[in-house]
Amino acid sequence: MHLTDYEKSLLNGDQGPAKARAMDLLQRYGEALGAERLVETANVAGAFNASTPSVAPIAAKGFDRVFSELNLDSDDTVDIPHMAVPTCQLITGIDNDNWELQGVDPELARMQRESEKFLGKRGVNLMATCTPYQVGNVPVLGEHCAWMESSAVIYCNSVLGARTNVEGKESTGAAALTGRIPYWGYHLPENRFGSHLIELDIEVDDMADWGVLGYFIGGEVEENIPVLNGISHQPNLVKLKHFGAAAASSGGVEMYHIPGVTPEARSVAEAFGPKRSLRTIRYGARERLATYERLQNATDRKVDFIMLGCPHASIEQMALIAHMLEGKRIHADVALWVHTPRAIRQIAERSGYCEIIEAAGGVVMSDTCPAISRRMPPGVRVIATDSAKQAHYLPAITKVQGWFGTVSDCINAAVTGQWQGVAG
Ligand code: F3S
Repeated sequence: MHLTDYEKSLLNGDQGPAKARAMDLLQRYGEALGAERLVETANVAGAFNASTPSVAPIAAKGFDRVFSELNLDSDDTVDIPHMAVPTCQLITGIDNDNWELQGVDPELARMQRESEKFLGKRGVNLMATCTPYQVGNVPVLGEHCAWMESSAVIYCNSVLGARTNVEGKESTGAAALTGRIPYWGYHLPENRFGSHLIELDIEVDDMADWGVLGYFIGGEVEENIPVLNGISHQPNLVKLKHFGAAAASSGGVEMYHIPGVTPEARSVAEAFGPKRSLRTIRYGARERLATYERLQNATDRKVDFIMLGCPHASIEQMALIAHMLEGKRIHADVALWVHTPRAIRQIAERSGYCEIIEAAGGVVMSDTCPAISRRMPPGVRVIATDSAKQAHYLPAITKVQGWFGTVSDCINAAVTGQWQGVAG
C-alpha cells in the first residue's frame, strides 16, 4: 500500500511511538483489505473508554495501557498523545448518573469516569451516544469519516452522504491519532451505487412502519445497497434513523438511496449510476405483516420492561413520550427506560419532559443502552420496544421475550402491564 512521505514519517516514529503503532496498524489493515492508499479523515467516532468488567484488569495497569491494547492492538504500552483530529466517543456501558439503577458495581462506574477524564484531556469528545449526528457531529456530503456503530454508519453514508465503512475499535484508535483511514469500500465513489430496487406498494409513514421496512429490506439485500422507489411521505431524521438501524440489524446494510431524499440520488437512475439493479423487490401489505410478525419474539403478554430510545431518542421523541405519559402512571410491575444522548437529555430536562416521564415512574437513561450494557431492571422476562433493532438484539442477547410495536403500543403496555399491540 502506498504511503505518503508524511505517513512514512509517522510510521518511522517521528511523532512518537503511539502514532508509529497507529500507522503500522493502518498499513497492515489496509493491506489486508486490498486498499491502495490511505485517505485523510478529520472525523472519527469510536469506542475508547473503559466501562466493562472485562476491561477492568487492563485498566488496573492504566488508561495508556487500555488504549494501547484495545485501540492500537499494541503489545507494549505507549503514552497516548492528544488525538490528531476531531474524535468522539460513541455509546458506553454505563450511565454516569444512573449506574446504581443499572446494577453497576461502584468501582466499575468510577473506572468509567476516570477513563473519561483521561480521554477528554486527549481530545476525545465524550458524546457517549450511538447517534453522534444528533448532538453536533454532522459530517457533510463527501466527507471521509472513520465511524463505528452500524446504525450511525448507515445514517452517515446514506442520509448525510459522508463516507465511512463500519470501522472497529482498533482502526478508529489509529485513525484518531493519525487522521488517516484505508481508502476502500464506501470511501470509493464507484462502490456507492445502488444494487437492488425496492418498489413500495403501500404507504410507509410512521416510525414503526419505517423500522419494519428497514428490517424487511436488510433481510432481503443483506450487505448490498437498496434503492427505494415509491415512498408516499417525506421521512424525517427519526424515521430514517429507525429505518437504517433496522436494515443494518437484519442484514448488513451500510448504505441506501431514497431518490429525492438522500443526497447522492436525485432519481432512481442516478442512484444506480452505471450499474443495473440485480433484483427488484416488492414491498406490500403481505411483506409488512410478515416482517412485523417476525419481530414479535414473545408469547407472554404480561410485560415487565419497556425499552424506548434505540437508536438514542431525539428531542422530538422525548417530547412525544412525555406528552403520551403526562398524567399517567406506569404499572407497578413495569419499568420504563427511555434512552437519549446526554446533550439531548439536558434540553429535555430544561423543557420539562424528563420531569413528566419521571413523575409517571419512568427513567431517562443516557450514555448507554441495554443491548450494549447487557443491563436491565432485575428479573425482566418480557420486554416491549418501539425499535426493530432492539427487538432483534435484546431477546437474542439476553434471552428475554420481546414485543415490537409503535410508541403508543409501548406506552400503553407500560401503563397497563399488558401488551396489546396488533399486527398490520
Ligand atoms: Fe444505539 Fe444501543 Fe440501539 S447502541 S442503536 S441504543 S442497540
